[in-house]
Amino acid sequence: IESINFKEDLLHWYYENKRQMPWRETTNPYYIWLSEVMLQQTQVNTVKPYYNAFIKAFPTIEDLSNAKEEEVLKYWEGLGYYSRVRNFHEAVKEVHESYNGVVPTDPTEFKHLKGVGPYTNAAVMSIVHNHPLPAVDGNVLRVWSRLTSNYADIQLQKTKKTFEEELMPYVQTNSGDFNQAMMELGATVCTPKNPICLFCPVQTHCEAFHQGVVTELPVKKKK
Ligand code: ADE
Repeated sequence: IESINFKEDLLHWYYENKRQMPWRETTNPYYIWLSEVMLQQTQVNTVKPYYNAFIKAFPTIEDLSNAKEEEVLKYWEGLGYYSRVRNFHEAVKEVHESYNGVVPTDPTEFKHLKGVGPYTNAAVMSIVHNHPLPAVDGNVLRVWSRLTSNYADIQLQKTKKTFEEELMPYVQTNSGDFNQAMMELGATVCTPKNPICLFCPVQTHCEAFHQGVVTELPVKKKK
């Protein structure tokens, strides 16, 4: 991949085509964190009404900290993966108690909170503060394996590590936009089935497209 043009083309497309999402209208780290927790196992359109109801019920870190777990769980009903919300609730309580209600701005502190793994850390810290961390979710694993025509098994931790390292140069500036653009490309163009390469903003940078092997990637070995 030709680094400079790739990122320019991707960001240009993103700025022109990004979908409106309620969490893209805010800079509140608590809201952006909530959205990333919800979006981890759930699609954007499903998340929207849950996100809106949740922030209406618990508009501040203090409100959520004072809420009972069973009350909070009601607002997650139907989303599944309930450990996500239990961890989030606990982490927000810790922010309330130990950080004076302010979400840590330093990724090395933020990642120690309950439920905050490498993805959530990178997503929230890049979107809120432009910390240069690559947010590698399922979308990004697929997109990057195709762009670089990498046949490594994306279920392996090692593959994710490699991709994070390869993405480092690109995420140094406009980090939040770059990460979100990669996810957006994966969600709308570089889809698992029938990717729309004809309309892909980075088609010319895509090794798999040049080789005619887009549909062979990513490689996902059954566990
Ligand atoms: N999936 C996870 N986080 C996202 C985000 N910020 N924008 C779009 N899709 C996402």
